[in-house]
Amino acid sequence: MTNNNNNQKLTTAAGAPVVSNTNSMTAGKRGPVLLQDVWLIEKLANFNREVIPERRMHAKGSGAFGTFTVTHDISKYTKAKMFSEVGKQTEMFARFSTVAGERGAADAERDIRGFALKFYTEEGNWDMVGNNTPVFFFRDGMHFPDLNHAVKRDPKTNKRSPNNNWDFWTSLPEALHQVTYIMGDRGIPRGYQYMHGFGSHTYSMINENNERVYVKFHFTSQQGIENLTDQEAEIVVGKDRESSQTELFGDIEAGKFPKWTMSIQVMTDEQAKNHRDNPFDLTKVWYKGEYPLIPVGEFELNRNPENYFADVEQAAFAPSHVVPGISWSPDRMLQARLFAYADAERYRLGVNHHQIPVNAPKCPVHNFHRDGMMRTDGNLGGTLHYEPNSYGEWQEQPSFKNPAEEAGPADIYDFREDDDNYFEQPGRLFNIMSDDEKERLFANTGRNMEGVADFIKERHVIHCYKADPAYGEGVAKAVGLDISKIDLNKIIQYR
Ligand code: HEM
Repeated sequence: MTNNNNNQKLTTAAGAPVVSNTNSMTAGKRGPVLLQDVWLIEKLANFNREVIPERRMHAKGSGAFGTFTVTHDISKYTKAKMFSEVGKQTEMFARFSTVAGERGAADAERDIRGFALKFYTEEGNWDMVGNNTPVFFFRDGMHFPDLNHAVKRDPKTNKRSPNNNWDFWTSLPEALHQVTYIMGDRGIPRGYQYMHGFGSHTYSMINENNERVYVKFHFTSQQGIENLTDQEAEIVVGKDRESSQTELFGDIEAGKFPKWTMSIQVMTDEQAKNHRDNPFDLTKVWYKGEYPLIPVGEFELNRNPENYFADVEQAAFAPSHVVPGISWSPDRMLQARLFAYADAERYRLGVNHHQIPVNAPKCPVHNFHRDGMMRTDGNLGGTLHYEPNSYGEWQEQPSFKNPAEEAGPADIYDFREDDDNYFEQPGRLFNIMSDDEKERLFANTGRNMEGVADFIKERHVIHCYKADPAYGEGVAKAVGLDISKIDLNKIIQYR
């Protein structure tokens, strides 16, 4: 069938007609291929460059566009324009992911899930880059590369190594809280719609009077929580390695738009100073009894990307992207993340990744950055590219200065976080589980620790026992150890 529609005619990247996309140009019918078959060369060369570096972690993911709507007035806490009035809507993009698997990994794996949101506000993009757990394995960014080495492939076998994984986790007693989430029912969400999201860190909000409160962000699934057991997940993975993508994409295509309720917990500066733990410790939650959830709004995901690579693979989220009225806290982990993301994205997507449509702010952008690979926006034309200048381009905006945070007098030193209250919160988490859930937690841990050295298993049993004796006893049985032979007072603290 011939098609006379000009728009459907095959062209080279430079727009010239492609004469043959079937036969290479050869010297004679049986002769060698010619270098002057520039279309063949362009086609092969382009193909060679299709793969960009995958995210070092959170490589496998799904994304969708949506809308955030304010349902409650929180303007007394924040001047952020997106929260300025009830009913206000802001466009957004969300990407959910697993963490340890590569780009081709199956979705229904036991792992944390990433929960990254980009809000295109009128004062810049706010990226809320969270997880489906309210805590993390540790509280110092120094450990992050090691975590990823330990949970990803072993350098010799090129296989995931439970021994490496558990050696690392159990060397940090503060990891037990997060490990309890992963080994519990929430370790394998049925799909991305069926999990809650958490900012996890402590952030701050600043109001019109330039007053700061500390906040934690919560996103509660309106679909409810649904999880897979190990056995169910095995069947799902056997049938569909892309099960979370299938559900999210399929539901949105069918008009069944998933929704999450956003709320915040608020802590004043005074409360933060008197809090029993370090309120900026990412291995701990703030109890809702003390810091109740305050409703803010909801978001709905209602549009699938037309092209996965363009919008999902090239999405670049960074905790460093905040807007006036939202800021960070002294959380050490968050501080490390303020560097890590934008740096990873300069490497993965290039210095001009902000111009990729999914990342581009929907408000005017003016600065003195120029040039660099893949600059496609006109490079700010003939505007001045230095400061100070005498022409008022572009003026800094001191009215957005945040209130000062107390920091000193302070000594500069590689201080160790000295709070050793590692086990109270994992114990409480264990105790809100039903008896069935606890049994599954033991069994999941047992399966997950198969092949792990006994001294590492022992270390985990000791930590679990400290959280709750029943937790320790259940895990000891599941991993095949006799708890009466373990010195339960022996806590190995890695430096
Ligand atoms: C992805 C670093 C902790 C959530 C990434 C990426 C880096 C990174 C470099 C890849 C970014 C990219 O290529 O676009 C770190 C460091 C951490 C840390 C250094 C600790 C110091 C956390 C924590 C959370 C988190 C605590 C959640 C509370 C995510 C998510 C993604 C991600 C959701 C995927 C974002 C997307 O969908 O594109 N992390 N991370 N990370 N991280 Fe972290």
